[in-house]
Amino acid sequence: MDKGTPKAIRLQDYRPPAHLIDTVDLHFDLGEDATTVRAVLSLRRNPARDDAENPPLTLDGQRLELVSVTLDGKALSPDDYTVTPDHLTIPRVPDAFTLETVVRIKPQENTALEGLYKSSGNFCSQCEAEGFRKITYFADRPDVMARYTTTITADKARYPVLLSNGNLADSGETGDGRHWARWEDPFPKPCYLFALVAGNLRHVEDRFRTASGRDVTLRIYVEPGNEDKVDHAMRSLIKSMRWDEEVYGLEYDLDIFNIVAVGDFNMGAMENKSLNVFNTKYILAKPETATDQDFLGIEAVVAHEYFHNWTGNRVTCRDWFQLSLKEGLTVFRDQEFSSDMNSRAVKRIADVQRLRTVQFPEDSGAMAHPVRPDSYVEINNFYTPTVYDKGAEVIRMIHTLLGPQGFRKGMDLYFQRHDGQAVTCDDFVAAMADATGVDLSQFKLWYRQAGTPELDVSGAYDDAARTYRLTVKQTVPPTPGQPDKQPTHIPLVMGLLGPDGADLPLRLKGEDAPAGTSRTLHVTQAEQTFEFVDVPARPVPSLLRGFSAPVKLKADLSDADLTFLMANDSDAFNRWEAGQILGTRLLLSLVADQQAGRELVLPQSFIDAVAAVLKDADRDPAFAAQALVLPTEAYLGTQMEVIDPDAIHTAREFARRTLAKALRPEWLATHRRNAGNEPFTVDAAAIGRRALKNLCLAYLMALEDEEALGLTLGQYHGAQAMTDVIAALQFLSNADAPEREDAIAGFYERWKGEPLVVDKWFGVQATSHRADTLERVTKLLDHPAFEIRNPNKVYALIGGFAGGNPVRFHEAGGAGYRFLADQVLRLDPMNPQVAARLMGPFSRLRRYDSKRRALMRAELERIVATPGLSPDVFEVASKSLEAAG
Ligand code: TRP
Ligand code: ZN
Repeated sequence: MDKGTPKAIRLQDYRPPAHLIDTVDLHFDLGEDATTVRAVLSLRRNPARDDAENPPLTLDGQRLELVSVTLDGKALSPDDYTVTPDHLTIPRVPDAFTLETVVRIKPQENTALEGLYKSSGNFCSQCEAEGFRKITYFADRPDVMARYTTTITADKARYPVLLSNGNLADSGETGDGRHWARWEDPFPKPCYLFALVAGNLRHVEDRFRTASGRDVTLRIYVEPGNEDKVDHAMRSLIKSMRWDEEVYGLEYDLDIFNIVAVGDFNMGAMENKSLNVFNTKYILAKPETATDQDFLGIEAVVAHEYFHNWTGNRVTCRDWFQLSLKEGLTVFRDQEFSSDMNSRAVKRIADVQRLRTVQFPEDSGAMAHPVRPDSYVEINNFYTPTVYDKGAEVIRMIHTLLGPQGFRKGMDLYFQRHDGQAVTCDDFVAAMADATGVDLSQFKLWYRQAGTPELDVSGAYDDAARTYRLTVKQTVPPTPGQPDKQPTHIPLVMGLLGPDGADLPLRLKGEDAPAGTSRTLHVTQAEQTFEFVDVPARPVPSLLRGFSAPVKLKADLSDADLTFLMANDSDAFNRWEAGQILGTRLLLSLVADQQAGRELVLPQSFIDAVAAVLKDADRDPAFAAQALVLPTEAYLGTQMEVIDPDAIHTAREFARRTLAKALRPEWLATHRRNAGNEPFTVDAAAIGRRALKNLCLAYLMALEDEEALGLTLGQYHGAQAMTDVIAALQFLSNADAPEREDAIAGFYERWKGEPLVVDKWFGVQATSHRADTLERVTKLLDHPAFEIRNPNKVYALIGGFAGGNPVRFHEAGGAGYRFLADQVLRLDPMNPQVAARLMGPFSRLRRYDSKRRALMRAELERIVATPGLSPDVFEVASKSLEAAG
């Protein structure tokens, strides 16, 4: 580091702001060479602070060329203030005053995509978390909330559309080919919710009438030529608006809601007040270009950003340590929305898979942190699966503990108390507890403790006494900086299955009568026993139904118990889970066989279990498609002491091939039954049938015989929907067949005009498990369609290889590691946020063998030794090295 080691910011150092800002009047003069920003702020001393004297005014600002500073109408001279690379400080200011600053910025040189930048020739902004300081001098912290007026002036021909937050107040022409628009946002907001867009855009419009009768204009802006791909996003928006009214009584609060889709964006989307900005990936879709997963992703992200209007915007975060206050809650809300729109069980399974393969590894790696972190070097590194997805699980547990009505009461109280405020996770939990009387004091440990708790459950049936005792032990493993952990409050939802497979009535010792067949046990101690009475026969327990807590569960269930649960559990999630546990057990034993050089054999009992699911598949194709996927290589890794990517890959491929061969007629028949040429729709049932069909084809292609190849090629050339085309291309990209290269080349020729489809093309090649993949990926870096400045391209090609291809990335010689480090170092000077995100695989090096660890460590050392490194990459690299020991 040339600036020395960057300093950590700590939650315990929080102080309220010295000054408050009531109004902000912004004037943007957008130009081809530079943009001028004039900001008029009305400031006053914060009465909530106890400073003895009037504190100096310190504003954040980075990469700003300061033109002038005026205080209460008087121009200040450079002696009246100090400017550093990060701040503007005025030592003496009155109690209340107006400050005007003029700065110049260069959006066209902004490759970090934070602040004001250009994407395909259009101006757009991204301020969360701390990008506003790259636009103007300001108190860039979420607990400073102000009312904004924004005037934008720009060339009319190049930038016919001028947008900002709130309502359009006025607009006009300046006579010299330029025009202007003034936007007023009546709601006080933190500056991270500010947005500006100016460009040549087309929009599609619709309307929504709120429950109380307000007519809202809905517009989605896209680049010309994409107007035919916003239908699904618009329908998703309307559904979200209706859902939030129905489930939470929350209405939209302005007359206009705008969405803009841009091709260069670091993340998924951004909830700026009334002007959401989206990655095109989460807006643009039609069946020929987007997969079913894309359609579902759009529905979820459109909802997520819309829901932020209440959980995030109307009530915002006091500081960035509270990020999960808005993100965990809003992810929970979008998950529930998607569950209501599609299949609840399938959605839950997908969310849990994501949690386990992405968040669990983070929680046991070098970057492990609590849902509410205690410190950070770069806040952008904390937009993590832990804050988002584990944060959503924490909210889900509160929902389980309070019940749906109690949760709604808690939400109502939360808004009643905090509308218009910037608050903390404690405030949220207090509203939940106060509204219902439920004690959440121990539960709050979930916000403070990192690491995935482990539950060890064993059952004992007493024939004579007709009792069943469940003994539950919990431990939370140590994580960096948190060696000692306390037992937390874990809602363990469970049931007991009788010999006929039906749920037994559940009566705990001391209760007069049974209370239901599915109950929440409150696990609060390191070790605890729950005794059920009146149990007529030895039951099979169904534990952690619906995955009621984000824990690792170990239960003493036999293979026979699991098969029984697979067939009978009334909880769909646990039917799936039983199969996954069986599959994991089996695959891990194959991994051990492989490591020991023993011959691999797939037991007939496992083949029979798969056959049983397959036989029943047509009843619920979407569920079957998930139940028939073997645990992923990434998940199997999380279940091993020392991850062996080669043995995992070999074992899993062996199991796939053996299942393919053993059940070939069944795969073929199921494929045929679900491959009908029905008209394309994106409802859950149709998505399920396509998923099942493609899963069958995936098994068949594990054999790569002529019939499978024929079916795949037929689908590749004949299918209309991208889901089917890309699935076929993916199977081909793994194959030895000579048709492979023609298909890959042909796909590019057909789709080179659609950037989002080209991303899929990069992704398929990056995740091929063929031995020559790294060589191909390296070549693709020079492909004309690859752009290192475009995050979607980087995530598809480099991220796809490093994060989505364990067997090739972890190639024992270390070539994958060298490749990733090279790309991180190349990208860091342009876009540190994206560069740091690519480093994820390195932060988990502790889990690998000593040779791989040493190779990864060497790459990390090379990275930290590089002069001029961003704090983003520095934080991940140095923490990864520290944890590596
Ligand atoms: N608040 C955004 C969301 O949850 C996240 C986000 C979008 C973001 N763009 C960002 C966070 C850039 C950090 C940097 O959808
Ligand atoms: Zn969000």
